[in-house]
Amino acid sequence: SWTTGNIVEEQVARIRAQVGSSRVICGLSGGVDSAVAAALVQRAVGDQLTCVFVDHGLLREGEAEQVERDFVAATGVNLYVANEQERFLSALAGVSDPETKRKIIGREFIRAFEEAERAIMAKAEAEGEPIRFLVQGTLYPDVVESGGGEGAANIKSHHNVGGLPEDMKFELVEPLRALFKDEVRAVGAELGLPAEIVGRQPFPGPGLGIRIVGEVNQERLDLLRRADAIARAELTAAGLDDEVWQMPVVLLADVRSVGVQGDGRTYGHPIVLRPVSSEDAMTADWSRLPYDLLARISNRITNEVDGINRVVLDVTSKPPGTIEWE
Ligand code: XMP
Repeated sequence: SWTTGNIVEEQVARIRAQVGSSRVICGLSGGVDSAVAAALVQRAVGDQLTCVFVDHGLLREGEAEQVERDFVAATGVNLYVANEQERFLSALAGVSDPETKRKIIGREFIRAFEEAERAIMAKAEAEGEPIRFLVQGTLYPDVVESGGGEGAANIKSHHNVGGLPEDMKFELVEPLRALFKDEVRAVGAELGLPAEIVGRQPFPGPGLGIRIVGEVNQERLDLLRRADAIARAELTAAGLDDEVWQMPVVLLADVRSVGVQGDGRTYGHPIVLRPVSSEDAMTADWSRLPYDLLARISNRITNEVDGINRVVLDVTSKPPGTIEWE
């Protein structure tokens, strides 16, 4: 019978046949697909692979460490980290229009990746082994989708960090091309990747940059990161990770409302919880989370995150709402 072990063996053999003794490069985003694709290639060709992680500073709490520490520990991969937090913050300064933010993040990401690529190339060439291949975590549904019309996918300018525009310099290695998402997760588990990476819910390439409604800055990122970490921890503790497709946590950075805490009046920002159930993200319904869970999340966020004095629940289906707010 067809097992996850078979899939791993078959893909490893294919990758070896395709790549031979050449060098390979792979972008890691923190997401499942790029991690599993990289782990397969690492299993197949070991040190011929170099992974690149562009840390744009827009990931959630703990996610950069999951890549830099846990993924490396699990796979032994060569990792090149580009610390680009400052670059993204300055490029985003003063910008609050959602599409403009998306375009800036996408543009800076490609530039940062290409700079990292050049540094790795220079070293590889000095060693007489130029890089010939680029790994992409394309899944079967992506293959099917791009064969069909564009349409709904274009409502927002989606950009997949880790998935780069067709780069003519390289031949592509796409070890997940025949797999569905659940198979990718099973392969990741088989390869010994950390549960946090394998089980990660969908997260947009532009990251927290499009979950701050308004201008992005360090202080707002810190607020959102803390609120998001609490909401995620409580959802997990309630055992509801599998029932919820994803739960964006959104900071309404330009909205403030009056509150009261202890003896004092507060004037803080609201946090929106956007838990949704969905099959494929094309349509979605808001998740009917237990009231007790919502109460715990709300109490903890307002008590523990200074500057947030209100937690609100988004009860809009998609359509008419999208899952993300921007
Ligand atoms: P929307 O907000 O359009 O989101 O209902 C549908 C799904 O796509 C994710 N999403 C993105 N994923 N790059 C990505 O890789 C993006 O720019 C992006 N924007 C939205 C979103 O989280 C949801 O799962």
